[in-house]
Amino acid sequence: MKSRLAKEFGLRIPLFAFTNSPEVVVAVSRAGGMGVLGAVAYSADELAKHLDWIDANIGGRPYGVDVVMPASSAIGEAEIDHEALQRMIPEPQRRFVGEMLERYQVPPLPASAHVYSDLPSFVNALSRAQVEIALTHPIKLLANALGPPPEDVIAAAHKQGIKVAALAGSKRHALKQREAGVDIIVAQGTEAGGHTGEVSTMVLVPEVVDAVAPAPVLAAGGIGSGRQLAAALALGADGGWTGSIWLTAAENKVTPPVVKEKLVAAGSRDTVRSRAMTGKPARQLKTPWTEAWDGKESPGTLPLPLQFMATSDAINRIHYHAANTPDSRAKELLGSAVGQIVGRMNAVRPAAEIVEDIAGECERTLAGLRE
Ligand SMILES: Cc1cc2nc3c(=O)[nH]c(=O)nc-3n(C[C@H](O)[C@H](O)[C@H](O)COP(=O)(O)O)c2cc1C
Repeated sequence: MKSRLAKEFGLRIPLFAFTNSPEVVVAVSRAGGMGVLGAVAYSADELAKHLDWIDANIGGRPYGVDVVMPASSAIGEAEIDHEALQRMIPEPQRRFVGEMLERYQVPPLPASAHVYSDLPSFVNALSRAQVEIALTHPIKLLANALGPPPEDVIAAAHKQGIKVAALAGSKRHALKQREAGVDIIVAQGTEAGGHTGEVSTMVLVPEVVDAVAPAPVLAAGGIGSGRQLAAALALGADGGWTGSIWLTAAENKVTPPVVKEKLVAAGSRDTVRSRAMTGKPARQLKTPWTEAWDGKESPGTLPLPLQFMATSDAINRIHYHAANTPDSRAKELLGSAVGQIVGRMNAVRPAAEIVEDIAGECERTLAGLRE
């Protein structure tokens, strides 16, 4: 199981874990894989605190940080004028959100409720501050979603000996990223959770491996077991990049228990690639909320970051009432980014146990194939 990247980062198993949970980052890296903290949900200050905590608890094991610097968005590199962005949300979309909440009888938030920001760090003005903070920590990898990171960000990481990875859903994107100076391509198939393209992992990975050779490629999308990691290695990848399976890890305090329940119950046909969440196609649980945005009555979704802003109050209300109001219909609307592997996420388990199971099954599978 010793891939080039496993050797380079000093891993026992070439398993990379994208997660928003600092606790899962630590658990995976300590178990011999590589945790990568998704920064998008955090402010720069929150990220700094999480990275301090990781440094104090990870025992010197390698880890990475993932930021979202979209190659295209409604505001690009512009400074943020929150009120101007709010004014860009058209009336039909505002009305549609209100009607959905009324139909499902989701009340407003009580004053005591925690409110998540309507502008996560997926615009460059915010993500750049995160990169600055990440580069002051002993990270080994800086990853970016939605295109290659800006050239100066790649150069700053390289100056410190930090490898840069970027997610690609097509051969064309992978080649663009290599041209921009990205070291490791994460070839992510359509079955993956979150922002994803249209080509399956099985088809995409060898296509990208051949296109960018000899650069290392990680396979992403649909990996949740040792057999799937072995398949990724067989396709020519240097390891597996996983996301969904950590949503239901026991240590993960970012996924609310009510969402974990829904994920544990879902099957592999219960996801959809929809623009409902951010305005860009992202795989998530299929719910009446995604079906409404994708349906005939929909006013259409808005470009990033406006779709998230237009729906943010509603999503806060849905989360709050799904968790706290017994028998609330908010539970029906409650969603989560997740991939098709959700069908095999059938229990809440410690992250180290998940790593062990994948490592053991991958070893046995590779040995069995040689017999
Ligand atoms: C809840 C969730 C959020 C995600 N957010 C990001 C993100 O912020 N940045 C990123 O690079 N990838 C993100 N992804 C994609 C993962 O990095 C990864 O490529 C994907 O989960 C792999 O496929 P899998 O879900 O089948 O394991 C997200 C995935 C999930 C499930």
